[in-house]
Amino acid sequence: MLTLLLPFLLLLAAISAATPWSLRPGFYSETCPGAESAVREVVKKAMIREPRNAASVMRLQFHDCFVNGCDGSLLLDDTPNMVGEKLSLSNINSLRSFEVIDEAKEALEKMCPQTVSCADIVIMAARDAVALSGGPYWKVKLGRKDSLTASQEDSDNIMPSPRANASFLINLFQRFNLSKKDLVALSGSHSIGKARCFSLVHRLYNQSGSGQPDPAIEPGFRQKLTKLCPRDGDQNVTGDLDATPTWFDNQYFKDLVLGRGFLNSDQTLHTSAATREWVLKFSEDEDGFFDAFVEGMLKLGDLQSGRPGEIRRNCRVVNDPSVNPVVCF
Ligand code: HEM
Repeated sequence: MLTLLLPFLLLLAAISAATPWSLRPGFYSETCPGAESAVREVVKKAMIREPRNAASVMRLQFHDCFVNGCDGSLLLDDTPNMVGEKLSLSNINSLRSFEVIDEAKEALEKMCPQTVSCADIVIMAARDAVALSGGPYWKVKLGRKDSLTASQEDSDNIMPSPRANASFLINLFQRFNLSKKDLVALSGSHSIGKARCFSLVHRLYNQSGSGQPDPAIEPGFRQKLTKLCPRDGDQNVTGDLDATPTWFDNQYFKDLVLGRGFLNSDQTLHTSAATREWVLKFSEDEDGFFDAFVEGMLKLGDLQSGRPGEIRRNCRVVNDPSVNPVVCF
């Protein structure tokens, strides 16, 4: 009987391994009812410590979800067997506030051990960071598992450069079923936070290899930027991504209309006719921006790889260290 059933059981196991977890709001209402408020408290405290933590935490959702789905792979530290996403081009010396996720995980492990995934903590924390910065609040879908591995190469192959132009970004986002409207609304996340001169200098001194600045930068703003980021200056100096960098609002779009976008990937959304209508709309309609942003974040949060997963006890390490042994110095 078992021999007859074996192929069927194997097939079933393969399908369930490849089936994404079904996500839903209130996933932890029975198993860890205090989870969402515990995460919110941690994010609130982190923002009091340093307001920029809101932006840095929210950014983690984008960088986690684009690379093999929202699976907490971004949070894994490197091991002798695995070079993870933290070292990738877009993340190294740039992603920050991992300790906020660690703090939330520690609180949740005390409340309900091995119940709430790190991947879900990222999603909750991103939502809370936006809401606590004056942006919209939305119900997040939960029930993700944490990945067993991470890949620097996958991140390098997927995450866009700040030099990207609108048509590149439109195509990239389309691969994730995200429309032009989603692209523009999600880029509105740059309503909060900062970027390094490293991400900007090409625009100021050698746009597209021309040896000239990007003509789309408004001259007064360009003067300000060249002062902040002189040629051969410190590339780690940071500038604000919009004129109200701790407040989640539609100022980012107003800035783009005036030629005051910080990154090339921001300003290109206004320069390009393919996305300009959405920039103009959101610059005049903050509620419309908020609705589109929530829609985009939910779609981003739905991305799943279908790979096997677990609930990690520590967001930086997989549970079975023999899979990816941790480096000990
Ligand atoms: C459309 C393509 C995008 C590109 C090319 C891009 C690129 C960048 C770059 C280069 C930085 C500054 C990094 C640095 O200089 O260290 C940055 C910061 C940031 N990004 Fe994006 N980004 C994009 C979309 C998104 C999306 C979809 C989100 C969130 C949903 C997001 C959230 C953020 C936030 C909040 C910051 C500020 C982080 C902080 O202050 O620590 N970005 N992004």
